[in-house]
Amino acid sequence: MFVTFEGVDGSGKSTQARLLVEALRAEGRDVVATREPGGTELGERVRDLLLHGNGLSPWAEATLFAAARAQLVEEVIRPALARGADVVCDRYLDSSLAYQGIGRELGVDRVLELNLVATGGLLPDRTFLLDLPVDEAARRRGGDSDRLEAEGREFAERVGIAYRELAAAFPRRIVRVDATRPPEEQAEIVRAELRDGS
Ligand code: TYD
Repeated sequence: MFVTFEGVDGSGKSTQARLLVEALRAEGRDVVATREPGGTELGERVRDLLLHGNGLSPWAEATLFAAARAQLVEEVIRPALARGADVVCDRYLDSSLAYQGIGRELGVDRVLELNLVATGGLLPDRTFLLDLPVDEAARRRGGDSDRLEAEGREFAERVGIAYRELAAAFPRRIVRVDATRPPEEQAEIVRAELRDGS
């Protein structure tokens, strides 16, 4: 099973990814936990470029994310799935569709095409979108912001809307979770969905 978590910055997806990993491991399952951008040595270097670089063109940004993702799929995700492990990833290609495809206006179709090439067509079995109003996400983040997070409210709004559009476009794969609920309740919804849906 390949599961991903998505949402705007501050939506709590890292917490939910961790809670799911802990729950699956408690059941005795072999789980590989990873994150994007990052998760490999190349990915961590690309992450650094992406989060602290200045003046990146939108397509440079999109292709760097795709390069890191290609490496992660090849090095971590496919081998784990091949040996029968579950993979839980904090962000995956929907982040590129939302942030680069819609946020940067590169077009969802073109960014999806790029990412399907980069990943050899590997889509998650299930994706949880942690849905949180932009202002609440900003409040939870406090003062902490990297380059992409510092782009302001309008960009964040666009990304939030983009995620909802993606959830509507891929209704079988993407499950919306109300991220204003207490974290334990969200985790329970996630686990129930995976039990019933798999
Ligand atoms: P992340 O490390 O998940 O930040 P956080 O832990 O704050 O959620 O992601 C870093 C930033 O990179 C985040 O603003 C979203 C952005 N991003 C993209 O724009 N495209 C992508 O494909 C990915 C994976 C992330």
